[in-house]
Amino acid sequence: MTESLFVSCTPGLEAPLAVELAALGLAARVVTGGCEVADAPQGSFVRVNVQSRLASRVAWRLGQLETPAALARLPVSALLGPGPFQLGISEEPGARCAVPAEVWRNAAVKAWGALGEGPELSFRLSRAGCAVSVDTSGALLYQRGARQETGKAPLRETLASGVLKLCGWKPGEPLWDVTCGSGTIVIEAAEQSLGLQPGRARPFAFQAFPSVTAQALDEARLPGPAVKTWLHGSDLNAGALGVARRNARRGGVFEAITLARVDATTLVRPQTAPGLIVANLPYGKRVGAKFDLHGLYQGVGAALRRGFSGWRFGFLLQEGEDALGLALDARAPVKNGGLWCQVVTGRVP
Ligand SMILES: C[S@@+](CC[C@H](N)C(=O)[O-])C[C@H]1O[C@@H](n2cnc3c(N)ncnc32)[C@H](O)[C@@H]1O
Repeated sequence: MTESLFVSCTPGLEAPLAVELAALGLAARVVTGGCEVADAPQGSFVRVNVQSRLASRVAWRLGQLETPAALARLPVSALLGPGPFQLGISEEPGARCAVPAEVWRNAAVKAWGALGEGPELSFRLSRAGCAVSVDTSGALLYQRGARQETGKAPLRETLASGVLKLCGWKPGEPLWDVTCGSGTIVIEAAEQSLGLQPGRARPFAFQAFPSVTAQALDEARLPGPAVKTWLHGSDLNAGALGVARRNARRGGVFEAITLARVDATTLVRPQTAPGLIVANLPYGKRVGAKFDLHGLYQGVGAALRRGFSGWRFGFLLQEGEDALGLALDARAPVKNGGLWCQVVTGRVP
C-alpha cells in the first residue's frame, strides 16, 4: 500500500524541500506552500516528520471522495483509531462543491461518531468533491523540543535550516553565524554535523495512530553519520549569547559549537579553512528607527572584504543589501514572520 502526502513549508522553501524529500527517497511535486508526494511507501510520513528540517507540517491524504456516502468506506478507524476526531472544512476558492459543507460534516458524524478532541481531519471541498486528509505532525515541525528560550527576533528552526540550504551549506564546511542571537542557525548546523534528527525529542500526532508502530518511530530517530565541522556563533548582545548557550546545551550540541561576544563589524578571520559567514541580520521595523541598519550592513561588508577573502557569505535580510558592498551570486526570496525577505549569497573576492 502506498500513501499520498502534502508536506507544507515556509513560502520560498518549496524547491529545497523537494530536494530534501528526494534525499529521503520520495519524488515530490513542488506547489505553492509545499510539496505533494504521491505513491510514497507506507509509513513515509513518519520519516518525513522526524527527519525533514524544512517541513512545517505533513498531511496524509486519505482519499478523494465524490459523495458524502463514500466517507463510510474510508478505513479511518483502522488507520487513525476509534476517534473522536476533530474536523476542519475548507473550500477551494472558485471551485464550489455541489454538496454543502454541512452535509459533509453530518456524514462525518454519522460515519465516525461525534466530533471532539483527537486526530485532526480536514475536508477540502472542490468541484471534484472532498479531499480528506489527516494531520500527522501535531505542533508545527519547527518546534524541535530543544529551544525553550528565544532572543528578540528568533528564526524558526525550519527557516534556519532553509537559510543553510539556500546558502548551499553542508556539514564539513566551517560556519560562522555573526549575529547568532539565540543560536538557531548554528544549532541547526550542529545537529546536522552530528547527524541528529530534528524530530528526535518531540511528540507527533501520528503516535496516536494504531497503524504506526513505536519501532517505526525509533528507527526514524536513529542518528545519521557525524561530520566534524568548525561551528561558531557570535553576537553583540551578551544576553542573547546566554540564551544560545542554554539552547545548545538542551539540544545536546553544546560541545559542537563555540560562542563569543563579537561586534559583526569588527570580525577577524579565524584559524580555519574558508567557510560560510551566515547571518540573519537585523532588518525591518522591528529593530526600531534609531538602529543604524545601513551602518551595520556597511560595517559587516567591510569586515568581510578586509579579512575573509575566499569565504562564502549568506545573509537573510529584507532590503538594503547594496550597503554590504559585496557582489551577489544569487538571491532567493523567502518569507519570515509573514514578510517577504531574501537570502543573498556570494563569495568574498
Ligand atoms: C534578527 S536577530 C538574529 C536572531 C537569531 N537568528 C535567532 O534565531 O535568535 C539579529 C541579531 O543581531 C544582533 N546584532 C545587532 N547588531 C550587532 C552587531 N553590530 N554585531 C553583532 N551582532 C549584532 C542582535 O543582538 C540580534 O541578536
